[in-house]
Amino acid sequence: MTRLLAWLGFRPSIPGIEPLPRDLRMVARQLLNGEPPSGWHALSSSAQARVARGHWRGEDVVLKVFLPRDPLELLKSLFRGSRGVRAVRRGHELEADGFHAPVVLAHGWDGTREILLMRAVAGDSLSRLISSRLGPPLLPVTDRQAVQREFAAEVARLHHLRWLHGDLRLGNVLLSPPRPGGNFVFLDNESSRKVDNDARLRKNLVQLNMMRPRFLSRSSRLRFLLKYAQTSEMSRSEVSELAKYLMQATEVRRAERNQRGGPKARFTAGAS
Ligand SMILES: Nc1ncnc2c1ncn2[C@@H]1O[C@H](COP(=O)(O)OP(=O)(O)O)[C@@H](O)[C@H]1O
Ligand SMILES: [Mg+2]
Repeated sequence: MTRLLAWLGFRPSIPGIEPLPRDLRMVARQLLNGEPPSGWHALSSSAQARVARGHWRGEDVVLKVFLPRDPLELLKSLFRGSRGVRAVRRGHELEADGFHAPVVLAHGWDGTREILLMRAVAGDSLSRLISSRLGPPLLPVTDRQAVQREFAAEVARLHHLRWLHGDLRLGNVLLSPPRPGGNFVFLDNESSRKVDNDARLRKNLVQLNMMRPRFLSRSSRLRFLLKYAQTSEMSRSEVSELAKYLMQATEVRRAERNQRGGPKARFTAGAS
C-alpha cells in the first residue's frame, strides 16, 4: 500500500508523527490472528477495526488497526485521506479548538491495513461510567449526574464551534480522570468535521439518544438536554422544539436500524 501510494504521488505518512516501527506491525498481525502477544490485550471495537492495549517504550498505549470496509475505500482515501490520517488531522483540529482527542504516537500501514498507535487515555468510557450498557455504571449516582451535566455542556461547546462528531456515542467518549471535573476525550474522529448548517449538529444528539432507555434512563436524557439547552442559550420554545425533534428522529433511526437487522455488528473482546 505504502509503495502504491508513493507511486501515485501521495505521501501516506503524517508530518510530525513517527512511522510505525516494525515490532508494532507484528503486534498488529498477531492481534488480527486473534493472538495478541503477551502484555497486549484486545479491546472491544466496531467490526471495522481491531484495537489492543499494551505497553510500548514504557508507556501505556492503544494500537488500532483499521480493516478496509469495502474495496473502494483505498481509492476514496486517495482523495479525502485515509481513515487514520483523517482521524489524526481532525484530532489535532479538535485540540486546537480546546477539545481532547487521543495523542497519536505513530502511524503506518501493513499492506492495505492502516495502523495508529495512541497514548492510552487514563480513564474510562462514558458508557461504563454513566450507563448500564456494559454492566452497572461505575460511578455513584451523584457523580453520574454531575458528569452528565458536564458532558452536556461540553457537547454544547463542541456544537457552538460548529463541530459535528462523526459517531457520538457514549462508548466513543472517555473521561480522564474518570470522575466529575475530568477531561472528555473524543474517540473515532475520522468523520468529525465542522458543518455550516446548525440543523446538522442535531445528528449528534440523535446518536446519543440511540442508547436504549433501559441502559440510560429518561431522566438522565432530560438532564442532558436541559444542560445542553442552557449552555447553548436556547429559548423555551427552541428547547421544546428540539425535544420533539429528538423523539421523532430517534424513533425513525431505531426503525431504520431494526429494518437493517439491528445494531451494527461489533467485535467483542472480553471485558471492554
Ligand atoms: N487512546 C485510547 N485510550 C484508551 N482507550 C482507548 C483508546 N482508543 C480506543 N480505546 C478503547 O478502545 C475502544 C475501541 O476503540 P475505537 O477507536 O472507538 O474503535 P472503533 O472505531 O472500532 O469504535 C474504545 O471504545 C475505547 O474503549
Ligand atoms: Mg469507537
